[in-house]
Amino acid sequence: MHTAQQLMKVFVTRRIPQEGMKILLQAGTCKVSLWDSDEPVPRAELLKGVAGAHGLLCLLSDRIDAEVLNAAGPNLKVISTMSVGFDHLSLDEVKKRGVRVGYTPDVLTDATAELTVALLLATARRLPEGVEEVKSGGWSTWKPLWLCGYGLSGSTVGVIGLGRIGMAIATRLKPFGVKRLLYSGRVAKPQASEVDGEYVPLDTLLAESDFVVVSCALTPQTQGLCDKAFFTKMKNTGVFINTSRGAVVNQEDLYQALSGGQIAAAGLDVTTPEPLPTDHPLLTLKNCVVLPHIGSATYSTRGVMAELSAHNLLGGLQGSDMPSELTL
Ligand code: NDP
Ligand code: DGY
Repeated sequence: MHTAQQLMKVFVTRRIPQEGMKILLQAGTCKVSLWDSDEPVPRAELLKGVAGAHGLLCLLSDRIDAEVLNAAGPNLKVISTMSVGFDHLSLDEVKKRGVRVGYTPDVLTDATAELTVALLLATARRLPEGVEEVKSGGWSTWKPLWLCGYGLSGSTVGVIGLGRIGMAIATRLKPFGVKRLLYSGRVAKPQASEVDGEYVPLDTLLAESDFVVVSCALTPQTQGLCDKAFFTKMKNTGVFINTSRGAVVNQEDLYQALSGGQIAAAGLDVTTPEPLPTDHPLLTLKNCVVLPHIGSATYSTRGVMAELSAHNLLGGLQGSDMPSELTL
């Protein structure tokens, strides 16, 4: 048994699935304080909550930078983010302080790939527009030229960033009759052979793909990657899908490409900022489908993400193995 003084202090920045909380509370080694809300912790509360903490369990909406790390102070041993993306963490600052980082790869791959396929189909086959027409009385009769879109059968799909999620997307899309699967990234991937993936330069991918799917990480190299020049290289009939991070896209350039007919349609699960303001120009376009960052949002996936985050945190606190530690 640990006495109250020996208990390590943990700050959890949001209400998370009970599977994760249970693990933390039953561990008996830490005193957990929780920002007990579905809404993000205000910055001032984060700085206050983290003070003196040994462990921080955070989400992708929390910017963990030098200010937060300084507020935490020298006790901090581990940051566990309930996400696979870690672009919200200032890793240089984290590393400097010898703090370990846990994240949640693999457990959300299937859910995110599934959502990407759903978004691609919804965008290409114009599902939100169709639903809206039914509700508004715009459906007068069956019309040969009405609400036509683009199908996957016989198509070329280009995946930017054939990592865990990119591979899972490719694997799911192939059975729809995709003829060619192109991918681009920093290096060719041996596992691409499982989906007959062809490693091509980005320009080739953009010129030849009917569907361009972005599933890379947000890094200084990918920030703003999808800009005017990028969209200009795509087919006019091309459909653009992004389920990585909003900042990979220059949204003004995307708006111009969509409204000017440079590309056919776009489906976004991620935007800048999040939430996207309701008066944002992209939301006025019928050929743009925007979802509220729900790639991993299945009950079971979020439960497992919370469990893994809790185990990562406890491993870091105890100085033992973490099930998914990020190599810094
Ligand atoms: P991985 O690390 O497995 O894959 C990331 C891929 O990005 C790698 O293949 C990597 O290629 C590639 N990449 C890195 N730099 C570049 C570059 N300059 N150009 C092209 N590709 C590049 O991560 P996951 O597949 O697990 O996750 C990917 C991202 O998806 C996360 O970082 C997160 O941002 C996002 N995500 C979004 C979700 C949502 O809800 N919408 C849910 C989950 C994740 P290489 O191996 O060559 O470095
Ligand atoms: C992540 O994990 O990075 C996603 O964006 C949310 O699950």
